[in-house]
Amino acid sequence: MIILRTVNDVRSYVSTQRGRGASIGLVPTMGALHSGHLSLVEKAVAENAVVIASVFVNPTQFNNPDDLASYPRNEEEDFRLLSAAGVSAVFAPSVEEIYPGGPSSHCGHVFDLGMAAEVMEGKYRPGHFQGVAQIVSLLFRITEPDRAYFGEKDFQQIAVIRNMVKSEGINVDIVACPIKRADDGLALSSRNSLLTSEQRAIAPEIYSALNDSVEYSRSHSVRATHDTVVERLDAVPGLQVEYFEIVDGRTLAPVDEWEESPWIVGCITVYCGKVRLIDNIAYRLPN
Ligand code: PAJ
Repeated sequence: MIILRTVNDVRSYVSTQRGRGASIGLVPTMGALHSGHLSLVEKAVAENAVVIASVFVNPTQFNNPDDLASYPRNEEEDFRLLSAAGVSAVFAPSVEEIYPGGPSSHCGHVFDLGMAAEVMEGKYRPGHFQGVAQIVSLLFRITEPDRAYFGEKDFQQIAVIRNMVKSEGINVDIVACPIKRADDGLALSSRNSLLTSEQRAIAPEIYSALNDSVEYSRSHSVRATHDTVVERLDAVPGLQVEYFEIVDGRTLAPVDEWEESPWIVGCITVYCGKVRLIDNIAYRLPN
């Protein structure tokens, strides 16, 4: 695996690979890798001749400076894991390389991300998706991937990136990969390493509540299903629901009735102490 630090190095690596007719898969990450990230890499390695992974904690998508400062970083271990997983090249630039004029969330260009970027994370983390679109579109432009891999753990992020690709006219196949969970159900996340052992012990309640609510939803309304999840989690000392929304899986618009859409997903964000955890579950899936 080769380590690329500059945009120019990436461009010349990509043009060499293109020159020999290789298909390219891209796996964008912010590092502190776990087996959720590696499941994306695994799929990319199976489907492309060359896989480029990026490791970059993108400052413009953090609306909270404490969150950015405390974000876990472990470059050496990340490189070891990516290399073992069969990645061809890792792009790990400095902030100055990506934002020579200093990180600013817009750089003059405002992305058209549609309604999907206005709800949930968009509401609670203003500017977050503009920052995500900024870095992901740059990665797409310099790596020119055939396919790019994203996890359904960040369900809304995939919808927003699909909108960005459309509005920017970028030609790439967005591949959605299922959520990887710990044995106790907790969705794997780089932020899990910030949990104390007491917090780690209660965090799996999030998935338990979501999972149990699928059965509950078969005989209850959308509103009742919503309330049972929020009430159960808010009753756990140390957990606090920021939002739980039951939405159309395609548009991310809230639904009031189960019959409204063949694809319905519940998206949740819960504070476990100061650590912000997100998860989601499908209530209805198209055949
Ligand atoms: P990061 O949080 O590092 O996640 C990188 C990719 O791994 C995302 O597509 C995310 O959805 C996926 N992922 C994380 N945990 C997962 C899990 N438990 N199961 C499956 N996939 C999982 O998402 C970002 O970084 C950034 O916003 C990024 C797209 C890199 C732009 O900066």
